[in-house]
Amino acid sequence: MPWHIRPYQPGDFAALYSLDQACFPPGIAYTKTGLRYFLKLDGAQCLVAEEGKHTVGFLLAEENHPLAHIITLDVAESHRRHGVGSALVKEMETNLAARDVRAILLETAINNEAAVAFWKRHGYRIEAVLKRYYLGRLDAYEMRKVLPGADAPGGPGPKPKEN
Ligand SMILES: CC(C)(COP(=O)(O)OP(=O)(O)OC[C@H]1O[C@@H](n2cnc3c(N)ncnc32)[C@H](O)[C@@H]1OP(=O)(O)O)[C@@H](O)C(=O)NCCC(=O)NCCS
Repeated sequence: MPWHIRPYQPGDFAALYSLDQACFPPGIAYTKTGLRYFLKLDGAQCLVAEEGKHTVGFLLAEENHPLAHIITLDVAESHRRHGVGSALVKEMETNLAARDVRAILLETAINNEAAVAFWKRHGYRIEAVLKRYYLGRLDAYEMRKVLPGADAPGGPGPKPKEN
């Protein structure tokens, strides 16, 4: 495996911002301010996938015990379908479970077929359709995974991605 996963460092910011701009359409990709805000949250957890000096993916989540919320998962187009996203999710789930997080929530646009397939493959289930969640016109699925060994807790997660 030529890439490896490590915790976020402040020097990664520019690369993460560029990758997010490349991964999402205008209006759904984060502004610099938005990305900085989420990275600085008290419960922010961010993992970076790196190949040499190149950032090829990252996963940003917020822990809000006993829940966590995936804010974004971004994999460079050149590195998709090589297990980068899966490795990031598995490591984040392991870290969160070790901190006694019971369930993980996320939102994804219902027309993002790759993401919906990816999350289903990782055991995330559709909980609800959030009408006009993105850009005031694009519906999203709210998805949830109860981590092994946990009962299903309730409660909504914070809202990711600025509209
Ligand atoms: C969704 C995304 C993170 C997946 O990352 P990835 O590193 O390519 O995913 P993996 O290689 O770990 O894929 C694991 C499995 O997910 C499913 N999957 C991933 N991409 C898929 C696609 N385009 N179509 C169908 N299934 C897909 C498959 O089951 C895949 O297993 P397989 O390759 O053995 O068939 C990536 O496509 C991405 O960054 N997209 C743009 C940003 C985005 O939409 N992020 C999610 C926002 S919620």
